[in-house]
Amino acid sequence: MSTAAERIQHAGLRQKIISAEQAAAFIENGMTVGISGFTGAGYPKAVPAAVAAKAQAAHAAGKPFKIRMITGASTADECDGVLSRANAISFRSPFQSDPTLRNQINAGEAAYMDVHLSHIEQQVRAGFFGEMDVAVVEVAGIAADGKLIPSLAVGTNVTWLQQAKKVILEVNAQQNAKLEGMADIYDSIGLAPHRKPIPLTEAGERIATPYLHCDLDKIAGIVLTDASDRNSKFAEPDEMSKSIAAQIIDFFSHEVKAGRLPKNLLPLQSGVGNVANAVLAGLQDGPFDNLTGYTEVLQDGMLDLILSGKMLSASATALSFSPDALQRFNDHIDELRGKIILRPQEVTNNPELIRRLGIIGMNAMIEADIYGNVNSTHIMGTKMMNGIGGSGDFARNSYLSFFVSPSVAKGGSISCIVPMVSHHDHTEHDVMVLVTEQGLADLRGKSPRERARLIIENCAHPDYRDALRDYFDRAEKAGGLHTPHLLNEALSWHQRFVETGDMRVK
Ligand code: COA
Repeated sequence: MSTAAERIQHAGLRQKIISAEQAAAFIENGMTVGISGFTGAGYPKAVPAAVAAKAQAAHAAGKPFKIRMITGASTADECDGVLSRANAISFRSPFQSDPTLRNQINAGEAAYMDVHLSHIEQQVRAGFFGEMDVAVVEVAGIAADGKLIPSLAVGTNVTWLQQAKKVILEVNAQQNAKLEGMADIYDSIGLAPHRKPIPLTEAGERIATPYLHCDLDKIAGIVLTDASDRNSKFAEPDEMSKSIAAQIIDFFSHEVKAGRLPKNLLPLQSGVGNVANAVLAGLQDGPFDNLTGYTEVLQDGMLDLILSGKMLSASATALSFSPDALQRFNDHIDELRGKIILRPQEVTNNPELIRRLGIIGMNAMIEADIYGNVNSTHIMGTKMMNGIGGSGDFARNSYLSFFVSPSVAKGGSISCIVPMVSHHDHTEHDVMVLVTEQGLADLRGKSPRERARLIIENCAHPDYRDALRDYFDRAEKAGGLHTPHLLNEALSWHQRFVETGDMRVK
């Protein structure tokens, strides 16, 4: 395997190698910093720790030091974790999942703006976040002509490299050098009114170059690293995930029979986590062949569908694998280079393309209400969990949009089907099929009251079903018969949980 220094084939850029501490010197208190990385892949591994150390030294000397940090999506402990533990983040966008940062956000110590992942780049380009002072971007190598070889995530890198006044690159020797050629970097989206259609008509098509471009004069320094991505392990699918997955796969068969889906389905988008992986694992043994993927994050389940020949190709903005799956990926990278396409998140999550390609979107949720409104982000209406991520991009624009969840949380003390969601991320208009381990509610073509009956009977946990029926019956009697509610009671289940630790009436 080549060293990180050998990965820099441009002679001039080799002169720019610096230490992480020297790189951190370019980052000052109050700066807006664009960081690469998407769902634990492709984030910088060394510079964040050096910035955290600088922040701690400043704080010890009684001086302020915090940065405004904008990424593609979540990073990992060596980035969000180390910086938040050093109290070095004043503002964060567009998605995070770090426990320390989450606590700081919910304690009001760090500001957070939760943004649709397809929107963040255009909002930065438009100047909605002010100027980007520095970008810190991980790459797998630098070609002799200075073009950058993306690592396991492309995310927002195109835009950060364009927008930042200064760029620090991390060249990571752990990223497979054979990633060269896997990406398809379309970088011409621009801003209205000068936009043209993105010329992508099939999920597996290539429309651009495999390299990222950066004005070489802006590169302030290059830091060498040799560290792996987060590579979280996946739990084996449990009975809950398997039950949800089996219902989705049955539903696909039903739709194929009814002529509403082709035999090889439509390009699949799958959110992150164990249920998502269980659905993909279920497709491995299912009756569908020649599948395609068009998703944000490609994880173990989709990799295995490609390796088994069930899936022809998959497009994603990040490859986020468990350690075992990463090994399989590296072992088969020559074959996979023609089948996996890494794109900017502004392309993978683009509403224009999601609508054109007819994606099947499958995402997890925190709770849904009896009318099919979905909360993906807030616990009890106030505390941020992670963020909306790309779920809104896919939910609104997919041909079929699924939301899945266990029917209860926290040992049964919380119902994930409630009278009214405590926060709205996806409105009833964007939610077509709800699935829990209890059953599936197909909400297409249904009025709100028809939806409510289906959701209560098919998706709610038996411990909460009577209470939901009772709420709905009384709401109907109270009038307002399009979307019946008892406004003084609609959020009482959440209030009861906050007061007693249980949504059930004892
Ligand atoms: N009320 C309170 N807590 C709840 C809850 C509810 N209704 N539903 C779930 N939770 C808790 C769980 O108990 C669990 O808590 P723990 O971490 O303390 O164990 C946590 O939320 C995660 O729930 P889990 O059932 O393990 O699901 P998950 O890991 O699949 O995460 C989301 C679910 C919704 C948080 C996650 O999918 C997410 O962040 N989604 C938004 C972004 C997104 O959709 N990204 C993909 C788009 S491409």
